Amino acid sequence: MTYSRIVGTGSYLPEKVLSNDDLAQMVDTSDQWIRERTGIHKRHIAAEGETTCDLAEKAARNAIEASGKSISDIDLIVVATTTPDQVFPSTACLLQSRLDIHGCAAFDVQAVCTGFVYALAVADNFIRAGSARCALVVGAETFSRILNWEDRGTCILFGDGAGAVVIEQSETPGILSTHLHADGDYANLLHVPDGVSKGYDKVRQNAAFVEMKGNEVFKMAVNTLGRIVDETLDKNGMQKSDVDWLIPHQANIRIIQATARKLRMSMDQVVVTVHDHGNTSAASVPLALDVAVRDGRIKRGETLLMEAFGGGFTWGSVLVRY
Ligand code: COA
Repeated sequence: MTYSRIVGTGSYLPEKVLSNDDLAQMVDTSDQWIRERTGIHKRHIAAEGETTCDLAEKAARNAIEASGKSISDIDLIVVATTTPDQVFPSTACLLQSRLDIHGCAAFDVQAVCTGFVYALAVADNFIRAGSARCALVVGAETFSRILNWEDRGTCILFGDGAGAVVIEQSETPGILSTHLHADGDYANLLHVPDGVSKGYDKVRQNAAFVEMKGNEVFKMAVNTLGRIVDETLDKNGMQKSDVDWLIPHQANIRIIQATARKLRMSMDQVVVTVHDHGNTSAASVPLALDVAVRDGRIKRGETLLMEAFGGGFTWGSVLVRY
């Protein structure tokens, strides 16, 4: 049986930091409100001219270096992003050229905040099927570019960043299982109303930015994450106590705490970066993974449950023996 396993992780955050106090100068909010309702203290914002591919390249190079593989070993590139540099080429193709890799398949996956989980599942399936041996999987976003900076309901939540993993073919797991879901009926809970094909409303200019029904997204997130935890453990015949680390999508500390309670996990077993990064969409899970790998919390042989939810509505999980 062929599996894939994570051999290296990397991440990158733009230099510019935007604090809650900075935001309070821009919209009617406060540091206290943002901390209490979301757990976020600050977020990183890409500099003018700094693109998603710039962030992706730095995270990718870190992951490749950590993996001990050489760039020429990579035979698949999957980038999860909602904020590509251009309509086309894909950010994965731009990244491929930056890394001086030629000829292998490279494409983007769009599942908003569930994007990295989707991308990792796709790459895992390529490797299991024998279509690739060593894949670079990146989640990268300049989400700040699609925010309405006058809407306090959304602009306080998000940040920019990138995370990456290198996975390779292995006789032993590795990635134990992946679980992907979507329900397009809930599209209006969290969306950018306008777009390339639909066109851009000249009167309602903010339709080019994220709109969200925060309360409803919150409830949907808690419900779907609870269900996916059960589905993932059932599929693998595991108990809640078998999971060493929860690496959740970093959207809101209260959603993370609700999922940890469902798993009966102490918050000491949950990787939390939302206070420093905000919600970096597709970058959030690989960023959190890299932080906990590099600070020594996550060790080889441990069982990791990554989960995410996002626009679409999409949700999913990956269970990993690290
Ligand atoms: N600063 C200060 N007050 C704010 C505010 C802000 N940034 N945003 C909203 N408020 C106000 C509201 O206007 C409301 O005031 P009112 O009671 O006078 O009407 C009050 O705070 C409560 O608003 P509510 O929307 O009920 O707050 P909440 O506790 O649900 O928190 C979110 C709002 C957005 C933090 C929360 O709903 C959330 O995190 N939802 C999930 C969002 C998410 O994860 N999205 C990404 C998915 S990938």
